[in-house]
Amino acid sequence: MTSDSTDLSYVIHHTRAMRRLKPDPVPNTLLMELIDAANQGPTGSNKQNASWIIIRDEEKKIELAELNRVAVNRYIDNPESSAPERAGIVNAVKWQRDHFQEIPAILIPCLTFDSTPADTWSAGAGSGGSIWPAVQNVLLTARSLGLGAAITTLGLSDRPAAKQVLGLPELVEPFAIIPVGYPTGNFGPVSRQPLENVVHYDRW
Ligand SMILES: Cc1cc2nc3c(=O)[nH]c(=O)nc-3n(C[C@H](O)[C@H](O)[C@H](O)COP(=O)(O)O)c2cc1C
Repeated sequence: MTSDSTDLSYVIHHTRAMRRLKPDPVPNTLLMELIDAANQGPTGSNKQNASWIIIRDEEKKIELAELNRVAVNRYIDNPESSAPERAGIVNAVKWQRDHFQEIPAILIPCLTFDSTPADTWSAGAGSGGSIWPAVQNVLLTARSLGLGAAITTLGLSDRPAAKQVLGLPELVEPFAIIPVGYPTGNFGPVSRQPLENVVHYDRW
């Protein structure tokens, strides 16, 4: 693997959830590059029913920050979050909670449905196959441009409230809240299980 940040394999292996971001503005041209990459992702039956909201407005960020804060506090109160091996993530999640409104841009990937999706996260996620490839394109492109980004979903825990903040019509569902900015730290390699733990041949 080369260390060229335009090399696809290198980028894939070095695209981590970057939560600590500088407040420096991100030019709109770069945000549009991210969404252009997203827009190349596949959708079921090629419906092309994904759309994106770019949030830069202070008031909107504050409203989303509050939704995120409530859900993050519940998440870190969970006994699982106090496990020593989770300390790194939990500290980064706390940092993001406390600096959310300083993040320069937030992207919201959405899907438009033909009829009302069941009001459960699992039903929403079940239909999410048409948005997650686009989301990964955003993360990879951000990494290749030197931008930090992370998938977050906790801030959507109260979906009606999130939809109201975002002004979404009934048939449009949000799938993530993706803060984007220049990272305060370095990009490192992802840490994943070895292949022998995750590959099965011919049957489980
Ligand atoms: C479906 C999904 C939901 C996630 N929700 C959150 C979230 O609400 N808050 C957060 O800080 N990170 C969230 N993450 C990021 C994961 O915690 C992160 O990708 C994982 O810990 C692996 O870290 P790494 O990508 O830096 O290796 C989410 C990731 C996925 C795929």
